[in-house]
Amino acid sequence: MSEFEPKIVAFVCNWCTYAGADLAGTSRTQYASNVRIVRFPCTGRIDFMLLMKAFENGADGVIVSGCHPNDCHYTSGNFHARRRWIVFRSILDLIGFDTDRITFSWVSAAEGKKWANLVDEVTDKIKAKGPFTDLDKLDGVQLKELYDEAITK
Ligand code: FES
Repeated sequence: MSEFEPKIVAFVCNWCTYAGADLAGTSRTQYASNVRIVRFPCTGRIDFMLLMKAFENGADGVIVSGCHPNDCHYTSGNFHARRRWIVFRSILDLIGFDTDRITFSWVSAAEGKKWANLVDEVTDKIKAKGPFTDLDKLDGVQLKELYDEAITK
């Protein structure tokens, strides 16, 4: 029987993590091939409902990664993303969603090795967890409404 190969979707900012992933590629750094990258101008532009879309469409794990604190190309987009993630995660915890399937990280344009290690670590973690099967946890949950209400408090 073949080993489970998780699908990991990575939502990354263009200026730091995407460039870091590119550096890993141009440096020929070896890492797990399980990740598919979705590039955003900034982590501050990521709608966290897209994370759930990724799971709905077959992802087993998700990475969100951008510039380190104080290095955001748009000054504070990463701080907004971090705040939104904290709120979003608390709602997911509340409904029993396994938030350990979502990894939030900072990877700079110079950290190709860190990107490779991150992908390897997340791939191993999700492999150990097995395929994502918790979509039913979202049934009947008005996640967007809960999130919108919480984020405006
Ligand atoms: Fe990278 Fe904002 S540009 S997090």
